[in-house]
Amino acid sequence: MSWQKAIANPAREFNKTPLTVISGAIPDTLRGTLYRNGPARLNRGKQRVGHLFDGDGAILGINFTAEGANATYKYVQTEGYIAESQAEKYLFPNYGMTAPGAFWNNATKPVKNCANISVLALSDRLLALWEGGVPHSLDLATLETIGTDNLQNTLNDLSFSAHPKVDAATGEIFNFGISPGKETTLNIYKSDATGKITKKKEVSLPGLPLMHDFALAGDYLVFVISPVRVNVLPVLLGRKSYSDAMEWKPQLGTQIWIFDRHELSLVSQGETDPWYQWHHTNGYVNSDGNIVIEFVRYEDFKTNQYLKEVATGNTKTSAKGTLWQAIINPQTAKVSETQQLLDRHCEFPMLAPQDVGQSWRYTYLSTHRDNVDISQELLTAIARFDRQTGNLSFTDLGANMYPSEPIYVSQPNNPDSGWLLTVVYDGERDLSEIRVYNSDRLEEEPVCSLALPSVIPPSFHGTWKNQS
Ligand SMILES: [Fe+2]
Repeated sequence: MSWQKAIANPAREFNKTPLTVISGAIPDTLRGTLYRNGPARLNRGKQRVGHLFDGDGAILGINFTAEGANATYKYVQTEGYIAESQAEKYLFPNYGMTAPGAFWNNATKPVKNCANISVLALSDRLLALWEGGVPHSLDLATLETIGTDNLQNTLNDLSFSAHPKVDAATGEIFNFGISPGKETTLNIYKSDATGKITKKKEVSLPGLPLMHDFALAGDYLVFVISPVRVNVLPVLLGRKSYSDAMEWKPQLGTQIWIFDRHELSLVSQGETDPWYQWHHTNGYVNSDGNIVIEFVRYEDFKTNQYLKEVATGNTKTSAKGTLWQAIINPQTAKVSETQQLLDRHCEFPMLAPQDVGQSWRYTYLSTHRDNVDISQELLTAIARFDRQTGNLSFTDLGANMYPSEPIYVSQPNNPDSGWLLTVVYDGERDLSEIRVYNSDRLEEEPVCSLALPSVIPPSFHGTWKNQS
């Protein structure tokens, strides 16, 4: 196990650099750009962040062309990152840390927008997303930060979460944002393909829950609200960070809120057993008219403690998340069935972008090699789960290899066949590379593997943009 080395020092950014082929060849029809986002700096001098989510975001762009591939890696120039770079110390409160100094630093300074969770590629710009604030827009080619982005003056500085759902057929983009306050507001957005919000809905939520993702399922938007609530007072007083003030309250159950995707109106509310999830794979409406959602379920909120420990380089908490499915009546939000699909720790469930909101067959995910202690390791394998047969095929990269979330790219003339792109940290050699696998032959060697100029620390989420 050697993932710690990848986060021991701040990642080194680089301008556009041609990539050397380590093995194989870039497929002739793979043309476009992979973008990934993740926390790239976890310390300033001797100061260390409090949680993995506190790291400043950096964007990796890997462009595949007829002449070969090149990569660019840049920190998002957020206001907080610029101020802290100049001061050469941390100044702001964050998800998992209070601001250094007197308590009023926390009361008067906003939580730093780290722009570190995911990306959304629009036709004219790339958005770096963070769930507690507005997106930052970047140049698609150079990854230079343009600035904060209010989606053509339609977002009004509200939060725009990091898991938007794009309907590939209509180009519509669905997303949400949480506004804490005396009452918590859930803002739900529908945007056109340019990102401009065309419809918005405000709903009051009980307490301040942690909501990271949702599902688009046919005509519905499904919000699964796990029983985590922030105890706000210690946060306001600067005594605790948001993360440390989150309380697991299983007695509240998991709330299910269903909205109509066209009107954004609330259709139904229900409650089911307590569980926690960061991520949904997808959702759809089955032939009975019921909603089916797939997600990675944890039995409690220990996953947050594990991710806090990752930032220290020393983990001890075991937090197993497994793939589940739930069937929900949209009219009542009653969960009629829950089923564990796979009894294996996994995260980052993905699917082909053209299947978002519809029935799909293959779920791609990150998992681990056989016989590893998940309390000590990061995810060490990528896999394909066949929802039709229940089969799992996966690639074992060997010891000390850490692949990122796999991103599916369709072959241009055959959308049912594609590639999986993963950025791999090689802990043995302290190097990073980009690998391309055939999505239906994960047990085979990658189609190609290319060396990256510097170490890319473990990242969260990414996307693929076809060459236009
Ligand atoms: Fe996420």
